[in-house]
Amino acid sequence: MGIQEEFIQELKSRTDIVDVVSSYVNLKKAGRNMVGLCPFHNEKTPSFNVSRENAFFHCFGCGVGGDVITFIKRIENLDYVDAVKFLAQRAGMSMPEDNGRSSGYTDLKNRIYEANREAARFYHKQLYTPQGRQALEYLRGRGLTEKTIIHFGLGYSPQSRFELVNYLKGKGFSNAELVQANLANLSQRGYPFDRFSDRVMFPIIDLRGNVIAFGGRIMSDIKPKYLNTSDTPVFNKSRNLFALQFAKNKANGQLILVEGYMDVIALHQAGFENAVATLGTALTNEQAMIIKRYCDEVVICYDSDEAGQKATARAIPILRDTGLHIRVLTVPNGKDPDEYIKNYGEQGAARFRMLLDKSGNDIEFRLSKLRKRYNFELTEQRIEYLTEAARILSELDNSIEQDVYLSRLAEELNVEKTAVKNQMQKFRRRNIREAQKQERRNIQDTISARNDKINNEKFYNLRAANAEEALIALMMTNPDIAQSVFSQLPPEKFITSFNRKVYEILKKYAESGGEFTLTDISGEFSNDEVSQIAKILASHPRENDPEQAAREYLSVLEEENDKLTPEQIAAADTQTLMEQLQKLKEKKK
Ligand code: GTP
Ligand code: MN
Repeated sequence: MGIQEEFIQELKSRTDIVDVVSSYVNLKKAGRNMVGLCPFHNEKTPSFNVSRENAFFHCFGCGVGGDVITFIKRIENLDYVDAVKFLAQRAGMSMPEDNGRSSGYTDLKNRIYEANREAARFYHKQLYTPQGRQALEYLRGRGLTEKTIIHFGLGYSPQSRFELVNYLKGKGFSNAELVQANLANLSQRGYPFDRFSDRVMFPIIDLRGNVIAFGGRIMSDIKPKYLNTSDTPVFNKSRNLFALQFAKNKANGQLILVEGYMDVIALHQAGFENAVATLGTALTNEQAMIIKRYCDEVVICYDSDEAGQKATARAIPILRDTGLHIRVLTVPNGKDPDEYIKNYGEQGAARFRMLLDKSGNDIEFRLSKLRKRYNFELTEQRIEYLTEAARILSELDNSIEQDVYLSRLAEELNVEKTAVKNQMQKFRRRNIREAQKQERRNIQDTISARNDKINNEKFYNLRAANAEEALIALMMTNPDIAQSVFSQLPPEKFITSFNRKVYEILKKYAESGGEFTLTDISGEFSNDEVSQIAKILASHPRENDPEQAAREYLSVLEEENDKLTPEQIAAADTQTLMEQLQKLKEKKK
């Protein structure tokens, strides 16, 4: 890892994991721990635990866990060094001087950020040169003000295919760096040339202000209309949203989700600064979870053409799964938000505000879509409609909301409300059963998968492995008794090798006089291994009499050591199997 131990210690003492996690997850007190909905997988019941006392988090649902650095690594998608920097900044500490400690990969990422930043400046300046003149006119023609153009850092990529490459090479960037940043492509003869040519450029900026990618729009009918940066070491299009860096501070509980860069920009200019867009692909789960981090309600405002409506229908369940409240705004007359606002000129913002205020929730959107498919003159079709409508209403968690729609439905089709209600409740019970089943299945899957991956010997001697884990948790939470355990129990007595490795590392840290909390030792383990240790900690509550507990676990281990080793057990199994096979064969003869 390379960062000085004292620095990490200091950082750790200044950082409260509950504080850090709270800015991403809504935590409630539950006994000694805090719990909330896991930000790393979709769940409806909270299984995400944070312990202030032991400075770790663990999710019983998906199995991830670790210390505060691991948490930041995962949630901000950073590597170890960057996560430490992130937390250091938050704690008001300056990083000790870089002495060759950052990984090569971190270096490359920093170079790409640098190159992107330089490129964004270069593209922006081009707007004010003769060759960029028409791009500037284009943007003005689309109704953008100078202020907006500067705010979003819009630009122009010149037609010739070498200007940016030459400019950046002059700034010391290598061919490889430009290609890795996806600012350049390589010609067949191995020369880099500009990826973007004669396009209006939209820089994509992450939450820390780094330029991570670009979208480029052609100003004619040539295809493709938009060219975007492909995924690079600093950019993943399914994990970012356009303009989130602005929108997150203006969300106030609500974000507007649109399809295009131009829609976002037009909305921001009109005062709706809580608009974001996906990056040219359909909405992903990851993006939905990011949205959920910054608001409770999302307004889907996709194009009103058929493709846009299909995309809306696909986005709804993805957003709903995160627990977000959803509204759907349909722009009249097949327009997108940008065209709509521009069309009404001065009135644009006010008109859009009206649409926003009367935008229904997604249930209304789905019911009205459903309604169009049936002919109410026919009894059979009416029943079918009611059944399907009841199915939609059964997904609502709010019973008051449910009741409103039930009344409306009953009135609309002139039927008894209780009949529709019964049907809905049937679906509802089924949904709950399904959800519970699914959640159990998920837990089962992750638990067994993770156990197999990290400690696949556990299976052979569950009793010993459980004692080992209990002992590890005990020592990590009660360092005062650790010394006596170390002197009584040599690592060889550990039966499963993963737990033995953990024990050895605890011992090593203790012997060099240091502490051995999860944060201290996490640098020695992979992400999955850290999760496994966090899980061990989370599944072992504090013991009332740690010394007595230690004696018990030690004696279990002594006993188990007198039995067969996992290798012997495995061998025995094979032997018996072979014998049985032999017997079977003989019988057949
Ligand atoms: P304008 O025509 O400039 O108003 O574009 P728009 O912002 O309204 O975009 P549109 O609704 O046509 O498309 C929505 C989004 O899909 C764009 O912002 C792009 O991110 C993406 N997109 C559109 N066309 C293409 C394309 O040809 N290739 C790729 N990769 N993405 C595209
Ligand atoms: Mn448009």
